[in-house]
Amino acid sequence: MSIEIPRAVRWHGDSVRIIDQTLLPTEYREVDLVQIDDLVEAIRALRVRGAPAIGIAGAMGLVASLKPYLDLSEPELRARLMRHADQLRAARPTGANLKWAVDRVAALATELPAATNVELWRKMRAEATAILEEDREMCRQIGEHGLPLLDQGSTVLTHCNAGALATGGIGTALAPLYLAAERGLRVKIVATETRPLLQGSRLTAWELGRAGLDVTLVADGAAAAAMHRLGVNVVIVGADRIVANGDVANKIGTYALAIAAAHHGIPFYVAAPTSTFDLTLSSGEEIRIEERAAEELSRGFGRQTAPDDVAVFSEAFDVTPARLIAGLITEKGIFRPPYRESLAALSESRKKRGECSE
Ligand code: MRU
Repeated sequence: MSIEIPRAVRWHGDSVRIIDQTLLPTEYREVDLVQIDDLVEAIRALRVRGAPAIGIAGAMGLVASLKPYLDLSEPELRARLMRHADQLRAARPTGANLKWAVDRVAALATELPAATNVELWRKMRAEATAILEEDREMCRQIGEHGLPLLDQGSTVLTHCNAGALATGGIGTALAPLYLAAERGLRVKIVATETRPLLQGSRLTAWELGRAGLDVTLVADGAAAAAMHRLGVNVVIVGADRIVANGDVANKIGTYALAIAAAHHGIPFYVAAPTSTFDLTLSSGEEIRIEERAAEELSRGFGRQTAPDDVAVFSEAFDVTPARLIAGLITEKGIFRPPYRESLAALSESRKKRGECSE
């Protein structure tokens, strides 16, 4: 079976082409971004979203936004580069990939003291392209490592959107599901709607349905009932940041799903590339959680649904404690508990490459 996969972020010439995900599922529109303010706005407003896709858009956006300035003096260009990089990194704070990818491109500026502006820019463009291509490959590998968790007739519950729309490839949590479909394995998918911005119903249901996969939408509040009534065998979600003890920040509601899965004896897996791992943090308590505007809850999609003056808790992500997680599915294989030990080798190899100095 050949499967149609949307491309969340790509080059169009030297502009960053994204699908404006705020318009889905009713309108499919691609937009091309070059200006730094437009790139930052697109990331903040979730036009492009999902930790890996934000990282790719940040890296490519840094490159695109500098192209009009190649006539500046070298110090002026470097100063502008650092300013754009700071603006991009600050656009969304919880996902690890954004800072990781922007740092990776920005680092070239210091490595190339002798380069001309154009040479430096070309190197940066190639690096951003490599980040996109590596992510595409990592998604496939995550799919390969996650596929053995599924059987003929399995029912998988997922949250938010950790699919093609959130990455450079076939997604993270959805990657094993796409590979299952490609290889003729019949799998049912339960997608939670994911309040308040509805990434599950607007995006996951859209991309899976378009690809011909068997998806059933449930309200967030129906997730525990769905586990019981629809015979969910496994939960697979994505991640925004995974820290050294195995705690995982992901879309708000993930923690509640992990608790419900534990109650039902259903294994709960997290799928993410190692670019989402921040091993400089020792526990989930240290993760900075993004707060969203109260209006996303009280006036979602333009309709008032709460009194004007009600107090609102609107954190975009929660932290699922490692003890609730059966495994972390990555491009390198599945990391199992105890995570401090299983992740130690990854941490060591980063230290050797000098990557752990925040
Ligand atoms: O606020 P969003 O839509 O960017 O949140 C996305 C998620 O929480 C995803 O689960 C996560 O980024 C993993 S995407 C492969």
